Amino acid sequence: MRKIVTFTTTFIVTGVLLTLQVSAQSTSQPNANPGSATPQQVDNTFEGRFWQYLTASTFRYDEWAPFAGRSDELYKGQSPHGAFVRVFANKMARQNSKQPPYGSILIKENYGADGKTLMAITVMYRTRGQNGQPWDPENRDWYYVKYTPSGQVASSPPEMGSKRLAGRVQSCIDCHSGAGGKDFVYLNDDLK
Ligand code: HEC
Repeated sequence: MRKIVTFTTTFIVTGVLLTLQVSAQSTSQPNANPGSATPQQVDNTFEGRFWQYLTASTFRYDEWAPFAGRSDELYKGQSPHGAFVRVFANKMARQNSKQPPYGSILIKENYGADGKTLMAITVMYRTRGQNGQPWDPENRDWYYVKYTPSGQVASSPPEMGSKRLAGRVQSCIDCHSGAGGKDFVYLNDDLK
């Protein structure tokens, strides 16, 4: 019982976080004092709060279970993901791996060729959007973010415009649109 209560609360928290992000986008207010304090202190963006949510000691993602029949071992990845990867999913996603419902969070840890060095954490979160505004219905409503191991939002390489990799990230969408079942999720393609 206690477990269920905890889950519901944290899920609502995620919904609230998204509200913050959408409103921040529509007013597009610049950060009051960028660079004046450590990112951990000032990162009040959705991505910053989402990272805190995912790594909070009570609910850390790396204690979630694997996704779509995978084990929690590292396995060989493919570009642009790490040489070795590991995937975690929240309870919502695991309840229906074939068709991850709204509220699903999928997390991929991307490791280097040594199979030890964590290079990036790539996340997909399926959201309905807020205030009657859908998030991205044409692309199955996935929100994407790529974090560095310390929880900063990663940027695309300079030749690709040094873009902040969070939100409706076109490069993620373009490739994930090729997933079977048109659900933008690859790992469940071979599930029955
Ligand atoms: C060029 C293609 C490509 C791009 C670009 C790409 N991915 Fe992926 N992604 C894949 C493939 C293929 C898999 C499944 C591979 C595996 O682990 O077996 C995958 C798996 C994932 C998964 C696990 C869920 C799933 O779909 O299976 C997440 C989470 C993820 N990617 C996030 C991202 C994010 C965030 C971005 C953008 C920053 C991104 N990906 C960009 C190809 C891509």
